[in-house]
Amino acid sequence: MKDINFRKIRIAICLFILIGLTACFSCSDEKQEPEKPKKPQPETLRDSPFPIGAALNPNSLKTNVNYRELVQKELGSLTPENQMKMWTITKGRGEYFWDDADFMADFARSNNIRLHGHCLVWYKDGTRTNSNMQWLINFQGTKEEWKQVMREYILAVAGRYKGKVASWDVVNEAIRDDGSFRGEDDIWCKNIGAPEYIDWAFHCAHEADPDALLFYNDYGHEYSTTKQQAINDLIKGMIERGVPIHGIGLQMHTNVNRNIVDLRNAINFAAQTGLKVHVSELDVAVNTSKNPSAEFTTELQDAQYRSYMMVSATMAALPEEQQYGITTWGLQDPVTTPPDWPLMFDSNYQRKKAYQGIMNGISE
Ligand code: XIL
Repeated sequence: MKDINFRKIRIAICLFILIGLTACFSCSDEKQEPEKPKKPQPETLRDSPFPIGAALNPNSLKTNVNYRELVQKELGSLTPENQMKMWTITKGRGEYFWDDADFMADFARSNNIRLHGHCLVWYKDGTRTNSNMQWLINFQGTKEEWKQVMREYILAVAGRYKGKVASWDVVNEAIRDDGSFRGEDDIWCKNIGAPEYIDWAFHCAHEADPDALLFYNDYGHEYSTTKQQAINDLIKGMIERGVPIHGIGLQMHTNVNRNIVDLRNAINFAAQTGLKVHVSELDVAVNTSKNPSAEFTTELQDAQYRSYMMVSATMAALPEEQQYGITTWGLQDPVTTPPDWPLMFDSNYQRKKAYQGIMNGISE
């Protein structure tokens, strides 16, 4: 009887020790495991919960296999860098050069990539004195005649890409950093007045393609609270006037010296309009002093990683219907002097830490 009891006690002690050791090992295992993102990560950008894309050009798509294959593998959205701007698409009033824009539209369609049109009305079109824009710069007319010129142009371009372009930057950069309209510096503001020309552009775009999502696009939200407020006020006014507007584009040409909280605040502030939010021209420069012998150090790579991660994490935290996506201004780091490394892919088309930043941000 006594013997049995002793055996029972010995077995119990052994079991106790065994359980303790197992618990201890599994504890230390857990500690050693690297931190896992909370949600499973997509394999490429194409599988991300909102479209991620880049501004592209037709020459690289046509001639550079590495570039083209990377686009096909990774991108869910594309913006033609220059091919849908007035100064590349027109030669005179009613005279158009469609080849490059058509190529971009066909490429997007055949690869099942969302196409974002950029941009129908931009004050800079009226400042390109040595190019195709003389016809507009020399135009003389009443306010109504200027509105007619704008309408003709928008109906032609947005009409041609109806059903092919998912969304348009209808008006680009109408507001200065101090929150004012551009006045004399903006050919449309000067001849039609603002915000009237902006409202008009959106009405014309909606007339041309009632299914396209229409965006107001600008820069500086992350560094000027005055401008950010002026943009939201403009949009609020447009909504009150019944103007068809669906989205706000934040260019976000930024750099690693900018506090990443400013990036988050800019996106969240824009989201207060209730519209879809597109980070439309993202790049994060690292060589802000333009040092010709700068190097892309681990510290700079990490800082850039944090900027990219903040942008995607903030986008992912918006209500789903407001997550229009993230577009970088270019695909791969350029080879330039002074050098810089602003994008998600290096000049050999390989993923950088910035790419991992985007991925970790969306799976947080
Ligand atoms: C830039 C292009 O990248 C250049 O190739 C071109 O010479 C000038 O325009 N904001 C915009 C973009 O909305 O259209 C600009 O693109 C960059 C700043």
